[in-house]
Amino acid sequence: MRLFSEEGLNGALRIAHVIAAVMWMGLLWFFNLIQTPAYAEMDPAARNNAFDKLTWRGLFWFRHAALATLGTGLLVIGIDGADGMLYDGDYFQKPGGMVLAAAILFAFIMAYNVWMVIWPNQQTVIANARNVQAGGEANPDAPVAARKAAMASRQNTIFSLFVIPAMVGGGTGGLFFSSGFELPGGGVRLLFWLIILGVAVLMEANALGAIGGRDPGGTNIIYDTHTNAIYTGLALLGVIWLFFEFVVGTV
Ligand code: HEM
Repeated sequence: MRLFSEEGLNGALRIAHVIAAVMWMGLLWFFNLIQTPAYAEMDPAARNNAFDKLTWRGLFWFRHAALATLGTGLLVIGIDGADGMLYDGDYFQKPGGMVLAAAILFAFIMAYNVWMVIWPNQQTVIANARNVQAGGEANPDAPVAARKAAMASRQNTIFSLFVIPAMVGGGTGGLFFSSGFELPGGGVRLLFWLIILGVAVLMEANALGAIGGRDPGGTNIIYDTHTNAIYTGLALLGVIWLFFEFVVGTV
């Protein structure tokens, strides 16, 4: 059966990868675009009940979809590379591979935010909601935990708007491919990675509160509303596209 051939297995893994990615991104956008604005308008009792019954379940599928996306993504590369079909040699030095590798870097940072920032802090928020719902005292640390989770989640929304076009466009063409299939010079590749690593380190440091702290405004303005996060994500996508259009594409 073709499914058990290398190509067949890779195809199946790619489908599994997209299913997991759709679930992860879908829940990420639900939490950021729908739940957070709605919870801000809800009565405290209704919000606590929603944290208890809805957010708890959402976070279960959210964090495991993140793990499944990473796992299947690694397998798509691992399985495929065995006989040197696509992801070997200088693949990751060419425009398509550079875009895919940058997206993979952001995806790992996003998964770190899910498991090491969002999930632990949301557990504090949900435990507080359940305790207050049961007539207990409010935990004074809960608002800080909620802010930490919200900033990391908004940062993931920003990265997601580059990762998806890069994943779809990366391997086989699409948005980033006006720059052709030629191997760019070492200087262009170095400049690309300096930009990508600079964006990754500065934005993640900001999301963890290491640059603008936790208060709204300042460098945190990109997290203060879901529309600010969307505009910032589209701007990131635009800057990287322009780099390929006018730097990679012209040398
Ligand atoms: C936020 C996380 C991620 C999302 C939303 C995502 C989404 C996607 C999507 C939609 C595709 C297109 C499928 C296709 O065109 O056939 C794709 C392809 C791919 N993804 Fe991901 N992915 C994510 C993370 C990762 C990670 C962490 C890896 C590797 C470790 C990875 C490796 C790949 C590979 C190798 C492909 C095939 C590219 C090609 O050759 O066309 N992805 N991904």
